[in-house]
Amino acid sequence: MVSLPGLRSRKVVPQRSAGELDAMAVAGALVAAALAAVNQAAAPGVSTKDLDEIAEAVIRGGGGTPSFLGYHGYPASICSSVNDRVVHGIPSAGEKLAPGDLVSIDCGAIVDGWHGDSAITFGVGALIPVDAALSAATRESMEAGIAAMIPGNRLSDVSHAIELGTRAAEVRYDRKFGIVAGYGGHGIGRQMHMDPFLPNEGAPGRGPVLAPGSVLAIEPMLTLGTVKTVVLDDEWTVVTADGTRAAHWEHTVAVTEDGPRILTAL
Ligand code: MF3
Ligand code: CO
Repeated sequence: MVSLPGLRSRKVVPQRSAGELDAMAVAGALVAAALAAVNQAAAPGVSTKDLDEIAEAVIRGGGGTPSFLGYHGYPASICSSVNDRVVHGIPSAGEKLAPGDLVSIDCGAIVDGWHGDSAITFGVGALIPVDAALSAATRESMEAGIAAMIPGNRLSDVSHAIELGTRAAEVRYDRKFGIVAGYGGHGIGRQMHMDPFLPNEGAPGRGPVLAPGSVLAIEPMLTLGTVKTVVLDDEWTVVTADGTRAAHWEHTVAVTEDGPRILTAL
């Protein structure tokens, strides 16, 4: 029996060396620290601009550079997406947090040329149960995708795992969630956004293969209603088309022989 190389494509999601993964984890830890500081500081009356300043200070204080600032003209170091904002909300001094707000914060940093990219969702004080379920379902979808980051899986196996995570959460929380259409995860390394694009749903078994050192940013976005979104006149802020709330969780994750390695951990 011989193999028949070339009959089908054997593309691999780009691989980083062990040393390069360690370098990415340094950038990732800085992102995690910035997100933790933002989460700590979030309280009624605090503005999303205040949160942006905190994140920027943590990143620069740790010797990093905020990757979002200036990216295609983006004016801040975090995206702060409150309530019906899905992603890419621009921090502003006039936007003050209120009790019960559902806040998604996305943050990226560069250290020694390597990128980390991560997002969390939290409540300002207690969340009502449906919003807590939305955030938990989104986080669990991300974790399902992370678990699929193993050698030999293909790109769409990760997408499929994320979708199965969402469907399992629908059963667990006894309600439907919308998987935001048109947005997904991505390759990451010396640039924030690299090929391949990673959909948050889809059939398994397609796309490039995952091998040790392959890195993806895994970032499900779920809503309490529609999958459709609208971009506001600021040309950044993505909101749900029906005004329902949305959540966003993201980690930068590497495939290793020993299993998935989260590079944006503290
Ligand atoms: N980090 C976001 C993502 O998860 C992208 C932010 S775009 C920016 O892919 F312009 F706001 F930086
Ligand atoms: Co990302």
